[in-house]
Amino acid sequence: MSTFSQYNFKGQKALIRVDFNVPLDKKTFEITDDTRIKAAVPTIKKILGDGGSVILMSHLGRPKEGPEEKSSLKHLVSHVSKLTGVNVLFADDCIGKDAIDKAAALKPGEVLLLENLRFYKEEEKGDAGFAEKLSKLGDVYVNDAFGTAHRAHASTAVIAQFFPAGKKMFGLLMESEVSSAEKVMHNAEKPFTAIIGGAKVSDKILIIENLLERATDIIIGGGMAYTFEKAQGGIIGNSLCEDDRLDVARELLKKAEAKGVCLHFPSDSVIADKFDANALTSNAPSNNIPEGWMGLDIGPNACAQFINVIKRSKTILWNGPMGVFEMEKFQHGTKTVATAVAEATQDGAFSLVGGGDSVAAVNQFGYSDQVSYVSTGGGAMLEFFEGKELPGIAAIKK
Ligand code: 3PG
Ligand code: MG
Repeated sequence: MSTFSQYNFKGQKALIRVDFNVPLDKKTFEITDDTRIKAAVPTIKKILGDGGSVILMSHLGRPKEGPEEKSSLKHLVSHVSKLTGVNVLFADDCIGKDAIDKAAALKPGEVLLLENLRFYKEEEKGDAGFAEKLSKLGDVYVNDAFGTAHRAHASTAVIAQFFPAGKKMFGLLMESEVSSAEKVMHNAEKPFTAIIGGAKVSDKILIIENLLERATDIIIGGGMAYTFEKAQGGIIGNSLCEDDRLDVARELLKKAEAKGVCLHFPSDSVIADKFDANALTSNAPSNNIPEGWMGLDIGPNACAQFINVIKRSKTILWNGPMGVFEMEKFQHGTKTVATAVAEATQDGAFSLVGGGDSVAAVNQFGYSDQVSYVSTGGGAMLEFFEGKELPGIAAIKK
């Protein structure tokens, strides 16, 4: 494995797997959040600066039946051009004649974007023949797609075998994602608080189990907190609950106790008479929510309780919101946590935020520059902290 920064790309065609799976407006196909594209720009610029050329490949969406307008990467061309300052060329296929010809004709300083890899079923199947065809387009393979690193697909993992050790490497984004995640996973300064939120316990069981081995404190918020409340005998009214996970919740509670990890649940909740931005609201203890009402955010006491834990932490991992922050009435808890994480960071803690919703919250409340690292990975970050080996990382390291 080579180090990206030390590699001289002069005269080389770098084939970069990026994760340009960005949200597009359904009607105009305009990009509604370009975070992932911006995050890949330093890698592209370094290669161009060395006198190399760049071939970008990515997936977009989950097309199942071949090419479709809404998943075409052509919608990204003008924005990638703007962000890189280069007039980006486009091949309307990722393998085949157009891609081969345009890649062959590429000159130093030029950038070529290939059409959606997932227009071929072979991509998700991890087909070696398809990966080999892609590999022929470039001299060097750069994986900068942390957001897709949990997929063992042709362009993310299988392709690496077609490049010799010195000609495959992580890009700058992948390097910083991996080093931030590894720092939290393996070198966390204590106290280490993990803040886990979101709707479902079932999505977060594995990450909580793995964090029980590492964290000193785990804050549980969001809809999943009510499954834990019910599992402990609480009355949760109409709050979200996974009745088939009550046993799992009880087991996690037992494990935490055995390991001496402090689990923190919201002592009170903002409750609503319906799941609606204009619902009637009130406060109640999280274990005593009246029938007909549901908890949609953590309450004022829980905010104070969580601030306290967060502010004494030296390492913070945050995945998942505390409530339905998309609705103004239920955003206070998530905003409070975002503020506390930013303040703890200011006081010297290392904070890593990942997962689509928590990243959206940090952006919405204006704290993205005040935490140590905001990950571009949702599923990838989750799987990393579940302790799984990510195929996109392993393929390069091997
Ligand atoms: C993502 O946004 O989760 C990544 O780009 C991977 O996409 P996928 O979940 O469709 O594999
Ligand atoms: Mg995903």
